[in-house]
Amino acid sequence: SAENGSRLWLRYSTDGNATISCNKQSPMLGIAATELRRAWKGVPVTLSLQRNKETRALGEEGYRLFTSDDGRKITITSAGERGLLYGAFHLLRLQDTGTENLSKLNIKESPAYNLRILNHWDNLDRSIERGYAGRSLWDWEALPSTLSDRYADYARANASIGINGTVINNVNASSQILSTEYLEKVKALADVFRPYGIRVYLSINFASPMQLGGLATADPLDKEVIAWWKNKTKEIYHLIPDFGGFLVKANSEGQPGPCDFNRTHAEGANMLADAVKPYKGIIMWRAFVYSPSDADRAKQAYLEFQPLDGQFRDNVIVQIKNGPVDFQPREPYSPLFGAMPKTAQMVEFQITQEYLGFSNHLVYLAPMWKEFFDFVQPSSLKAMAGVANIGTDANWCGHPFAQSNWYAFGRLAWNPELSAEAIAEEWLKQTFFNEELRMKNEEFGKGNEERLQSDISINSSFLILHSSLKQLMMQSREAVVDYMMPLGLHHLFAWGHHYGPEPWCDIPGARPDWMPSYYHKADKAGIGFDRSHTGSNATAQYPDSLCHLYDDISTCPDEYLLWFHHAPWNHTMQSGRTLWDELCYRYDKGVQQVRSFQRIWDLTENYIDTERFKDVQSRLKIQARDAVWWKDACLLYFMEYSGMRIPYDIERPI
Ligand code: GCU
Repeated sequence: SAENGSRLWLRYSTDGNATISCNKQSPMLGIAATELRRAWKGVPVTLSLQRNKETRALGEEGYRLFTSDDGRKITITSAGERGLLYGAFHLLRLQDTGTENLSKLNIKESPAYNLRILNHWDNLDRSIERGYAGRSLWDWEALPSTLSDRYADYARANASIGINGTVINNVNASSQILSTEYLEKVKALADVFRPYGIRVYLSINFASPMQLGGLATADPLDKEVIAWWKNKTKEIYHLIPDFGGFLVKANSEGQPGPCDFNRTHAEGANMLADAVKPYKGIIMWRAFVYSPSDADRAKQAYLEFQPLDGQFRDNVIVQIKNGPVDFQPREPYSPLFGAMPKTAQMVEFQITQEYLGFSNHLVYLAPMWKEFFDFVQPSSLKAMAGVANIGTDANWCGHPFAQSNWYAFGRLAWNPELSAEAIAEEWLKQTFFNEELRMKNEEFGKGNEERLQSDISINSSFLILHSSLKQLMMQSREAVVDYMMPLGLHHLFAWGHHYGPEPWCDIPGARPDWMPSYYHKADKAGIGFDRSHTGSNATAQYPDSLCHLYDDISTCPDEYLLWFHHAPWNHTMQSGRTLWDELCYRYDKGVQQVRSFQRIWDLTENYIDTERFKDVQSRLKIQARDAVWWKDACLLYFMEYSGMRIPYDIERPI
């Protein structure tokens, strides 16, 4: 059945047998208590809503979780109901992962960010921009009167990992979302999400006053426009008193914005900020801007936004993608982070794998996000947003392992200090190693007594597999970089989709910055985009020490070499190889790694339900085929320029 995937990481059995009490009643606390009653098998648990010095210090979402001295009961305390809900899920996670001594708990938690939010790029016709897991969950036709069970399941899954906000519609927003008809539907969703601690936010179209309100302008300084937004906001808050605010993509990729009226991004954002301010709403204003020109696209967000530092209202957060171009397999971090000390900033990660093999490739993204935090202090940010990979597919995310990216996003938004490895381990234990599978192992053992005796026990061999799976996840991001775009290459995607390679793509008259050759610039002399002082000088946007490191071809790390430099084909790499040889070896390494993932996965056959086993197995087959496609296409094409041979010890192109 499709059940296996649909339960996500919340697969704990429903034979809880403990006494659960709570010192207050509410829908949210009811959910927390119900979760525990269903599954908790230990000593009695008390959920205790208390305002004291300790709980106040941990905040409304923080909690303390502790066992009494005699070990006979567990208490979760918090100043807020959400803290108790998160505490309940934490306790169940401990039981499910079996990692802690439950008789001696004393845990204090509070989230690093107050805002941990998903961005759904969902359209009102239920298509999803860059979505690879079915249609949009939001059934607009049936709303508001009919509510799918999946709305609550979705909210529950988010609550279990601490996600507390959701922007339910695409950043390329239809103004229709603000019509009264749709707002009623949004309200119905908000009502389902509320007891799970999740607030609703909307993406808005900046031209809504014209498109929906019939005004002649959307100029943010126009009185009628200001009044229109104020009224609209009032209407929204009347329906949804805890509405979170707006997310805005303006003057980007053809979307309307304040610049259409000769106003700045700050003027546009501030007008909206003033409208939501009385209700404690916020504006998330995206810095993803670039225009079709020969200028270096990677520099544009910085050039447009950095000078506006200090001009934004305090309820505006500038939302910046982690890299300066666009969610490539590897980019250096965007230098706009840290460059606007007087402006609140948040990072936008992409959970959906637009440039990482859609839902066919197994890529665990936490290592990529942690790499970002190697450069950007978590404390310098106000919030974390993730572009969701969720749809109507029975298993929510398409690839069974894509669930780990939703999971990891939530966990990192709660605590960006967690290691990618620890999160992978948590997720694997909850997703693939629980009661049900243990039973299956035993069953398997029955026909295989001999093997059981000669071999290590089934359970311990599963544990070994488990650590192989963790390694596989940990290597998967570097593998995709290697077989798609190693050494700082980026945007080699085919025209019209972001799946396969087309480095040779050349469409006369098309936007230059949507053409792979704009990015790789391969010629007889070498390959790569010169962003050093001899080129676009994007390196100068980085803090001094990094600027020097990246700007000098002899110190620039290999993984960013072709991002920052047009390097000669015979350039000596850190490995001692020539650039050309290194490129060949990297592509080949990526392919070999996917093959090794296949071998590891095949070993899990007896330990994992057939449905998920086969699903992952067949997707890995596609991934291996695609990896070869990438390697062959890129090497054969670039060979025309390098004039060099593919080394004989790597797999020959087909
Ligand atoms: C990418 C993506 C678009 C999306 C855009 C954005 O360019 O391909 O589909 O709209 O990012 O983040 O706004």
